[in-house]
Formats: sequence, structure tokens, C-alpha cells
Amino acid sequence: MTDPSPRQLIIAIDGPAGAGKSTIASRLARKLGYVNLESGAMYRALALEAIRWDASFDDEAVLLKLAQESTIKLERAVGGNRVLLNGMDISARIRERDVTEAASKVSVHPRVREWMVARQREMGIGGGVVMEGRDIGTKVFPDADLKIFLDADPVIREQRRLDQQKVKGAPAEAIAAELRERDRRDRTRTTSPLEAAEDSVVIDSTSMSEDEVLDRIEELVEQRMVAAPGDCE
Ligand code: DC
Repeated sequence: MTDPSPRQLIIAIDGPAGAGKSTIASRLARKLGYVNLESGAMYRALALEAIRWDASFDDEAVLLKLAQESTIKLERAVGGNRVLLNGMDISARIRERDVTEAASKVSVHPRVREWMVARQREMGIGGGVVMEGRDIGTKVFPDADLKIFLDADPVIREQRRLDQQKVKGAPAEAIAAELRERDRRDRTRTTSPLEAAEDSVVIDSTSMSEDEVLDRIEELVEQRMVAAPGDCE
């Protein structure tokens, strides 16, 4: 009898900006041979489309139309995800400050979220995915096999963001203030605010190294694999 192939889990990683989600999700996916789906990149792509069309970030109907008429693709690439908007590589552009700020604004609208959540479910439904964002464990995959809520002290998150931006020479105070404001918006919006799912495992990475966080999550993945062995029928 052959070994059952390991079940292809759905792993949700949620948390605020600067908690280390992207790095951890990408390293974990690589280790497991899973696809890493960064849901924030989809909101960022829509934000960029809104900037290009000079659309108001408050106009839900127009934003929904832009989303419906765009093709947003996430592709695996060396060193992370490649994000394509209507076939154009926008991976670097969507990390810039104006898009970062706008992504948090366009993502407050319920109908925009509904559309995004449906696309994210289509992408992840087959399993073998690490999906990261703000509402993956609460809304996109409430039945995910493993839900992680990755958090860290706000001061540490700001510092990490500043370290990332330093190379680009962005003013420290402005970056920190933007992160605080984005956090506030993501946590207080009416639809799917950032919050830990009840059945998530909360990991506070304040005084943990990346490797320690990854080890902890891998332990949890192993437990889930044992708890839910492969479908071999
Ligand atoms: O994870 P990120 O920083 O790339 O996300 C950009 C913005 O998109 C973030 O401020 C909130 C929003 N977002 C969301 O509302 N839901 C998600 N699942 C992912 C991101």
C-alpha cells in the first residue's frame, strides 16, 4: 500500500502591517511547496487602478466596476509574488506609499470586499496554499485548516517598516504615522475589520526571530497534518 499523499492544507495568516506576515507566508509556502497568495496585493492592484483612472477612493460603485473589469493575477516568482494587472507587472509599483495608503481606503467597501473574497476563494479552494491578509481566517476561509494571527508590538512594527523603507529614503515620522493610520482604518472599518478569528493561534512576534516564528508555525502545520491525514480514496 502506498502512503497517502499529504493533505493540501489551507493556511491563513492574518495580522496588522509590519507583523512579518509576507516574509513568513512566503518562506512557509516555499518550505511546504505551497502557493503563497498575498491578498493585500489584490487590494493594492485595485488601488493602483483607481489612481490611474483618477477614481475617488470613496466611490464604491466605480471601484467595484474597476475591479470587475481588471484582471489581477498573482504569480509565483523568485523572491516572492509577481503581481500582474491587465498583464502588466506592477509588483514594485504597488509597494509605493501612495498605493499602500490607497489600498487601505479602497478595501473598506463591502461590495469591493465581496468581489475580492470570491476571487480569493477561487484561488485557494484546492488547498496547498498559504494565504495572508486581514480577513482570511474570518471571512475568506473560515474553515481553514490552520489560522495564524501574527501580531507584534506597534513600536516594533513601525521600526520594521522604517527599516524596509530606509533604503528608499522615506521620512521616518511620515512612514510611522501612515502605518498607525492604516492600522486604525483596517481595524475599525465596518466590514471585515482586522481581528483574530476565534479559533486562530495568536503569535506575538515582538521578541521572536523570523526563524522562531517559522518553526512555531511548522509545528502547528505538522499537528494539522496528523489531525487531518491525506484523502487517499
Ligand atoms: O497586506 P497589505 O499591507 O499588502 O494590505 C494592503 C491593504 O489592503 C491593507 O491596508 C488592508 C487591505 N487588505 C484587506 O483589507 N484585506 C486583506 N485580506 C488584505 C489586505
